[in-house]
Amino acid sequence: MKQQPATVADHAAIAAAAAILEEGGLVAFPTETVYGLGADAENPAAVARIYEAKGRPNDHPVIVHVAPGADLDYWVTDIPPEARQLVQAFWPGPLTLILKRASHIPDAVSGGQDTVGIRCPSHPVAVALLSAFKGGKGGVAAPSANKFGNVSPTTAQHVRDEFGLDEHDDGATDGEACSGALLSTVLEGGASQVGIESTIVDLSRLATHGPVLLRPGHISAQQIADVIGAMPAAPDQAAPRASGTLESHYAPRTPVTMLEQAELTAALAQLQARGVKVAVISHALPALPGEVPQQRLPADPAGYAYGLYAALRDMDQTGSGLILVETPPQGAEWLGVNDRLRRSVFGSAGVIAALLKK
Ligand code: TXA
Ligand code: MG
Repeated sequence: MKQQPATVADHAAIAAAAAILEEGGLVAFPTETVYGLGADAENPAAVARIYEAKGRPNDHPVIVHVAPGADLDYWVTDIPPEARQLVQAFWPGPLTLILKRASHIPDAVSGGQDTVGIRCPSHPVAVALLSAFKGGKGGVAAPSANKFGNVSPTTAQHVRDEFGLDEHDDGATDGEACSGALLSTVLEGGASQVGIESTIVDLSRLATHGPVLLRPGHISAQQIADVIGAMPAAPDQAAPRASGTLESHYAPRTPVTMLEQAELTAALAQLQARGVKVAVISHALPALPGEVPQQRLPADPAGYAYGLYAALRDMDQTGSGLILVETPPQGAEWLGVNDRLRRSVFGSAGVIAALLKK
């Protein structure tokens, strides 16, 4: 993981952002995974603004973010010992637990389900915001701060790009929500260190289903098994659907196709011969000629995840007809990266053939 840059929101910006949340407004804030679009989890009207700003269907549940040391019993019920073990081991950090919700959690947060996702992030700005908001006793409902279906943001600039904001929208200069705009405040926190969304483990039906891995991430199934003594299983059909598990998700506008190195090189040559501009995301492929937009990511899973979303966004802006991704390694520690890539390529089958026919 990379060094945290010094450019982070200051105390005044964080206090102003906490006040906006307390008044029912929206604030985008950094976490170690991706940037979140936050609202007071106990204010249904505020949570509704998240759905409106994202253009997200309102039956999709959102994660509640809490400060370190928060009272778990306030937010969830029927807490199994395994949940407390995982909290002890991984919070603050990139792990979301699905547990039975407390009765005061609005339907808007849980998507009407009897469960809620809860997580305590470790990014210092997120920790400061959650500690300032309602004196550390509140919960901030926050999905990733992107329009529904788009690539998640890993910098404050990505968030501004998603919502059409300019640089001054950092909460330090304007505490007021601009007229008309649902989101006006983006707290600065540098590049998200993990780079892909939190691991989600469902412990709400432990007795009947055991632990279930709803979304792979930086914290692996094996790390979870090492703590609770049981390996989380892949979700079955009956498991609640996580929106990040929709087939088409995390997708740039440009079609994305994954190919092994040799096929990628061959496809690139064919497409270039037809005059099709192609961008490439690779981890082992040697540097391509200068005219090919190329992002080379580190060949280790943490470094790759850190750079993936920024690479997809950058390559999306090159005016290419296709983004070719060199298939990453398939080991267990690459599960999170491959999960996100598989969703970003969804719907792009046959796109090479179609481009070659033109
Ligand atoms: O890393 C993260 O988790 C980021 C940062 C901002 O914390 N948040 C994030 O939120 O990825 P979002 O909304 O983009 O994805 C949360 C996922 C969704 O797929 C949602 O369906 C699932 O969590 N989820 C939330 N509550 C759930 C519940 N009660 N049962 C099943 N899935 C749930
Ligand atoms: Mg998301």
